Amino acid sequence: MQDCHGRTIDYIRISVTDKCNLRCVYCMPEKSVTEKAHCDREQQILTQDELERLCRCFARLGISKIKITGGEPLMRRDVTALISRLKAVPGIDNLTLTTNGVLLKEQLPYLVEAGVDAVNISIDSLDEQSYEQISRRKELKRTLEGIEAALSYPDLVVKINCVPLKGMNDRQLADIALLAKTRNIHVRFIEMMPIGFGKQFACQTEEEIKHILEAELGKELTPYKGRLGNGPSHYYSVEGFQGKLGFISAVSHKFCSECNRVRLTCGGFLKTCLQYNIGCDLLALLRGGASDEQLTDAVYQTIYNKPLCHHFDEPAADSDTEQRSMSEIGG
Ligand code: GTP
Ligand code: 5AD
Ligand code: SF4
Repeated sequence: MQDCHGRTIDYIRISVTDKCNLRCVYCMPEKSVTEKAHCDREQQILTQDELERLCRCFARLGISKIKITGGEPLMRRDVTALISRLKAVPGIDNLTLTTNGVLLKEQLPYLVEAGVDAVNISIDSLDEQSYEQISRRKELKRTLEGIEAALSYPDLVVKINCVPLKGMNDRQLADIALLAKTRNIHVRFIEMMPIGFGKQFACQTEEEIKHILEAELGKELTPYKGRLGNGPSHYYSVEGFQGKLGFISAVSHKFCSECNRVRLTCGGFLKTCLQYNIGCDLLALLRGGASDEQLTDAVYQTIYNKPLCHHFDEPAADSDTEQRSMSEIGG
């Protein structure tokens, strides 16, 4: 379907849990993490049945691509069964997963069987000390094993996400980029967005990151015109590299005019822009007994009224600004 600004919306990012086995400094606090209840008696997150029902409504409106995120999506016990149900919804033709990779190696065979088309793995450093400084956990080894396991599936598209953090992983950026040299893997650098704990960190811009990479790799980054995936990344080719290097530059290169996506938080809130809390409480509608027609209509109205763009560059004053954390929203 199209929103009121004429953009085609065909992609939904679904956060399936706010739980995470890491505590990245720009995403979660070290302690006192408030998580939604996942147990049967007090289920504050959407159940498998509810998610499938909602996905049928989304698909009816022309959404054909799903991204499963978290928190860490693989922390949700029924994630594999959930994925196979969502992939089987008529109209859904692409389902991808964004994970921190820690639990990937053991779950990958089941995820592939369930129909996952591509996997993005977040890793902010290849150095044990700085990986732990950023994620507050000693999980580098398992994350690297997750990447290698993903690469053993030739039909699976594998991408890496790295958030550059001044003074924490600057010296790791070129090494992370080099993963794309010998492997069929695309490495993307994400500008820090001023959301949740991210507000406490400086954003390293695409220009700055590019400069570091070109100097350290001793190679030029050449713009690549093709599209790889459904998200906002743009890519560069590097001579002698199998994979591309990408940038997700929401701060320095606003991409809102081409936005094709909405988000569903694990608590069932349909969110139409990362920066704002504007949207619709679909959990309340579902549990209040809404019919499929009522749900589809609410989703249509919400998506139709998607805001034109974010204003990350302006001080956040208004009451519409999002207070949820990235782990609840799903990035
Ligand atoms: P693919 O390339 O198809 O895998 O999609 P993707 O890049 O959207 O997937 P991923 O989940 O790996 O997201 C990477 C980063 O892009 C995360 O930090 C997201 O928060 C960010 N991102 C995705 N969509 C948007 C968006 O609409 N606005 C902003 N500001 N950031 C986004
Ligand atoms: N700014 C940019 N990226 C972020 N992520 C989490 N929080 C932020 C933020 N404030 C990234 C994670 C992961 C992806 C899903 O989102 O590092 O790679
Ligand atoms: Fe977990 Fe991702 Fe947040 Fe890191 S950024 S704490 S891996 S949800």
